[in-house]
Amino acid sequence: MAALTPDDRAARLSPEEALALLALQRDWGADEGLTEEPVDRFPSRLAVAPREALYAALPSVDQSGAPEPSRGRLRGSSALVSPAVPIVAGALRGVARPAATQAAALAAACTTLAELRAAIAGFEGCALRDTATNLVFSDGNPAARIMLVGEAPGAEEDRAGLPFVGASGQLLDRMLGSIGLDRTQVLITNILPWRPPGNRAPSEAEIAVCLPFLLRHIALVAPEVLLLLGATAARAITGNSQGIRRLRGQWQSLAVPGLEQPVPALPTYHPAYLLRTPLAKREAWTDLLEFKSRLPAPNRHQADYPVL
Ligand code: URA
Repeated sequence: MAALTPDDRAARLSPEEALALLALQRDWGADEGLTEEPVDRFPSRLAVAPREALYAALPSVDQSGAPEPSRGRLRGSSALVSPAVPIVAGALRGVARPAATQAAALAAACTTLAELRAAIAGFEGCALRDTATNLVFSDGNPAARIMLVGEAPGAEEDRAGLPFVGASGQLLDRMLGSIGLDRTQVLITNILPWRPPGNRAPSEAEIAVCLPFLLRHIALVAPEVLLLLGATAARAITGNSQGIRRLRGQWQSLAVPGLEQPVPALPTYHPAYLLRTPLAKREAWTDLLEFKSRLPAPNRHQADYPVL
């Protein structure tokens, strides 16, 4: 049978499918048609890269003379490389494994958040960076003792280069406000630093590849408590595959490579889910009160004003 030409394929699209494709291209930054035929500008670098080439690119990690971060809770980070792998071992097949190994080595070599950001910006092992407009690293206070982890940037976050700036970010701000917090007192980041095209769910392999950077992010911030926003964050970080309805409101003790003490982590619903399911706000409020009870002392006593 003769292969379909791009014209044949286009002719088979419904108007809705054609519009959805157009929206996807607009989200990817296409604002002008230049040629009759589509051009693949993202040759499958990962699919063809020989493993040896990726391994050869690994920096040698020697932390012996590295300065300790200000909070002083980091151990030498040589333990960082391996623990991220078992957490997501099922996802580390094929090309994802060398990419995750490379990410772990790069992350382990970072001793400051600026270095970590630069390492992620230069990392080519995750194809999401090719379709994203901006790297979304974090927002809030890097010296905060409270850290929040979401799933992945959406369209607005991708444009702004900041996490949680869209509708779910506005709800997140109100959730924080309800327990007396704002972005000056927390640091917010995501499991993935790049937007998955069309806001699709992150794949297991993408999570596996990016997880070493997130774990290093947590280790460098050394928060006293973590709030995990939604099922993807809760599963990726705790390795617990139960649904968010079961996990939410249950404190997890998270051993983060490089930190001497496990970090208490509380999963709760994602603000985007709460926007779609307002009835769940009641449970989210219970979770927030529970979270507040474990906040570092000055934050524990802020006045309540439930504005969810
Ligand atoms: N949802 C997320 O999980 N993270 C963001 O940054 C925005 C929306």
